Amino acid sequence: MFAARRSFSLFQKRAFSASAAQASKVAVLGAGGGIGQPLSLLLKLNPRVSDLALYDIRGGPGVAADLSHINTNSVVTGYNPDEAGLASCLKDAEIVLIPAGVPRKPGMTRDDLFNTNASIVRDLAKAAAKSAPNANILVIANPVNSTVPIVSEVFKAAGVYNPKRLFGVTTLDVVRASRFISEVQSTDPAAEKVTVVGGHSGVTIVPLLSQSNHASISGETRDALVNRIQFGGDEVVKAKDGAGSATLSMAMAGARFAESLLRAAQGEKGVVEPTFVESPLFKDQGVNFFASKVELGPNGVEKIHEVGPVNEYEQKLVDACLVDLKKNIQKGVDFVKANP
Ligand code: NAD
Ligand code: LMR
Repeated sequence: MFAARRSFSLFQKRAFSASAAQASKVAVLGAGGGIGQPLSLLLKLNPRVSDLALYDIRGGPGVAADLSHINTNSVVTGYNPDEAGLASCLKDAEIVLIPAGVPRKPGMTRDDLFNTNASIVRDLAKAAAKSAPNANILVIANPVNSTVPIVSEVFKAAGVYNPKRLFGVTTLDVVRASRFISEVQSTDPAAEKVTVVGGHSGVTIVPLLSQSNHASISGETRDALVNRIQFGGDEVVKAKDGAGSATLSMAMAGARFAESLLRAAQGEKGVVEPTFVESPLFKDQGVNFFASKVELGPNGVEKIHEVGPVNEYEQKLVDACLVDLKKNIQKGVDFVKANP
């Protein structure tokens, strides 16, 4: 009897530690918004997520109540829009996604969002530095080229910065590149892998078609395709006509990136996603953050891949990207220095 009880309890213990190793709390800050809601829905459907914590200055508990009726195992909790609610939402989170912030209207650049979104991201980063200093922080709020450096400066000031755990989410650029190239070539978009490097706005988005399956695309077709990938966001902003920017495709892209991080954290090898991280690739030119393919692991960034071979046309795109990127990054850094 004793032996049976003992082996049962050992079994229980093993089962518990196995599930504890897989238990992943994911927090979404801005969960009530156009991206936040479908992103939270996709996370609720992800069996790798055990706890889904939703925060917004408006509507977090409502979205949480709604999602909590879905018959998947994870527990969904909505938090009150105050300091204590935000702290509880963040506590023990393994991944924190930040889609909080205003979206563009037609005629605006992402940089035009800086004045509003810089302080939103700074304040959420301060809370994360306090309550979730070891979490992977996934920044979606625009302008990503500046909001990521803002988070890094806030974490540095709090003494908890780990560059391996800070990511600007540029997955949507890669998703678009796959889709758009498949439209031109009449192929399966899911099978198209296009490397997109740089940053996340206009000319800082650099698709490297020469590294795709369609290196021979040239002339006007190539120019139009590159332009569409660089300005895909504007296409949606225009079509939504004042009602915001990409939300559903972004939710898919954000959920894919979070899933990749969870797969890597749970031991899968060779998980590679393009993402905007603190990067050595162009540091000698004063550009401290850069998106390239990054191998993910249990500690976040495992390996930053080189840009790889580029042709003359693409080299010009990279050169133009670096000029803008440097300014965008500095703007974020300066903001935190002036407004700690
Ligand atoms: P939205 O206005 O629909 O939602 C934003 C949400 O943030 C709202 O629910 C709002 O209440 C909330 N919010 C505002 N301040 C907050 C705060 N201090 N704390 C918590 N929540 C707060 O906007 P959206 O369409 O979801 O877009 C959000 C951001 O994502 C925008 O900045 C947009 O430009 C950006 N975006 C980025 C990408 C990308 O590829 N990285 C793609 C699409 C959109
Ligand atoms: C996008 O690429 O769709 C987002 O960055 C939103 C925008 O403003 O275009």
